[in-house]
Amino acid sequence: MNLTPTSTGFGATVTGVDLGSAISDLDAGQIREALDRHGVLAFPAQDLDDDALATFANLWGELQVHPVAASLGGTDPIAVVFNDADHPPATGGDSLFHTDYSFHYQIPDVAVLRSVTAPPVGGATTWADATSALRRLMATDGELAERLRKLYALHDPGPRFRHEMEVRMGSEMADRVVQQFGDGSLHPVIAAHPRTGTELLFVNAGFTRWIDGLSDDESDDLLQRLFGFFDEANQFEHRWAAGDVVVWDEHRTVHRGPNDFGTSRRELHRCTAGTSAPIHAGSSTTPQRKE
Ligand SMILES: [Fe+2]
Repeated sequence: MNLTPTSTGFGATVTGVDLGSAISDLDAGQIREALDRHGVLAFPAQDLDDDALATFANLWGELQVHPVAASLGGTDPIAVVFNDADHPPATGGDSLFHTDYSFHYQIPDVAVLRSVTAPPVGGATTWADATSALRRLMATDGELAERLRKLYALHDPGPRFRHEMEVRMGSEMADRVVQQFGDGSLHPVIAAHPRTGTELLFVNAGFTRWIDGLSDDESDDLLQRLFGFFDEANQFEHRWAAGDVVVWDEHRTVHRGPNDFGTSRRELHRCTAGTSAPIHAGSSTTPQRKE
């Protein structure tokens, strides 16, 4: 197995391992350790089917059905991300940096994508490192970072997510999703990684709406500033080719997929594994589930 990290150490490309064959305990341990070190691992030209994708994701724990799909009766842990001329991306502009379903009280630990069809141009996915975002915040304004340690932020699905649901499933289903998840969840602004204990900035432009206890204006200003640290943080971009597999750490990273591939066909299959609530840095308590 050959591992080539980026110059920053955030993100690495792995070759010399066939994820479609039985993965030895030794390789599995090395892959998990590499993910904890680098946050995102790209495995080019693997050509897995969905069963092999699920087996690979299972290295990190129990497979998870997306809570929105589960609330609508879904049981399949494999989700399909599909666009073509008849199914353009629901949001007109680029998708925002986000942690998958952070509006839920628990988030997935790890997500894996495999590319089935890649557009000839565009359609890359970019990940940003929440650990280096926090380091930048601390270096820029240590006082603010200390203040944020005590604070929680509300994550909710918001109008963009509702619009996506409406385009995909119709307004009745979208209403049901908003009814079930619209209240969102409170998460610590500065969290500790559940496996490594490393501190990270846990807000994202996709789902974080409000910092609990602040006025709306103060919260909006502060969140915009915090989102800016992800733009400056270490990033990893993957330009998809059919067969590629990428696994990432949902706690440590945020990701986005620009809608820059026109009417080309793009199909990715996703599987997530493990689930846990973001942990408040410096404490052993997690926030109560917000009903
Ligand atoms: Fe996502």
